[in-house]
Amino acid sequence: MTRRSLLPALALATAAIAGSAQAADGAKIFQLQCKTCHGAKSTPMAPSLAGVAGRKIASLSDFTYSAGLKAKTGTWTDANLDVYLAGPSKFAPGTRMPTGVAAAPDRTAVIGYLKTLK
Ligand code: HEC
Repeated sequence: MTRRSLLPALALATAAIAGSAQAADGAKIFQLQCKTCHGAKSTPMAPSLAGVAGRKIASLSDFTYSAGLKAKTGTWTDANLDVYLAGPSKFAPGTRMPTGVAAAPDRTAVIGYLKTLK
């Protein structure tokens, strides 16, 4: 490889490193890890998350929640969202949501994004 052809490759690699060091992007995490199940409207697969921040837990009338999630009282505060996303079935044994978000900074970012969903 000549010096000339190596330079663009180096520039790309540097850009990739800079990208991964950026703050976690809540919108991107949502696209990749939540949207397959959670749409703008509730479906049989998952409830709508529009307006979920501050909403009473398991309270939509157009979705049939698990008994496990329905047993929870309270609202979706930042703290409750964080614990649920850290380990859905630890927060609500029997919940039908299989996975959450392992990394704490990613959870903070995605919770920030949930607040923008109206
Ligand atoms: C495989 C499908 C699936 C994926 C992926 C998924 N969820 Fe869920 N989610 C569900 C289901 C099903 C429920 C309802 C759970 C129940 O009834 O126990 C739920 C419930 C929720 C609730 C509670 C909603 C309410 O009305 O009380 C929140 C908040 C939530 N999900 C956030 C997320 C976020 C954020 C992500 C991405 C990081 C995500 N979910 C990814 C299926 C999914």
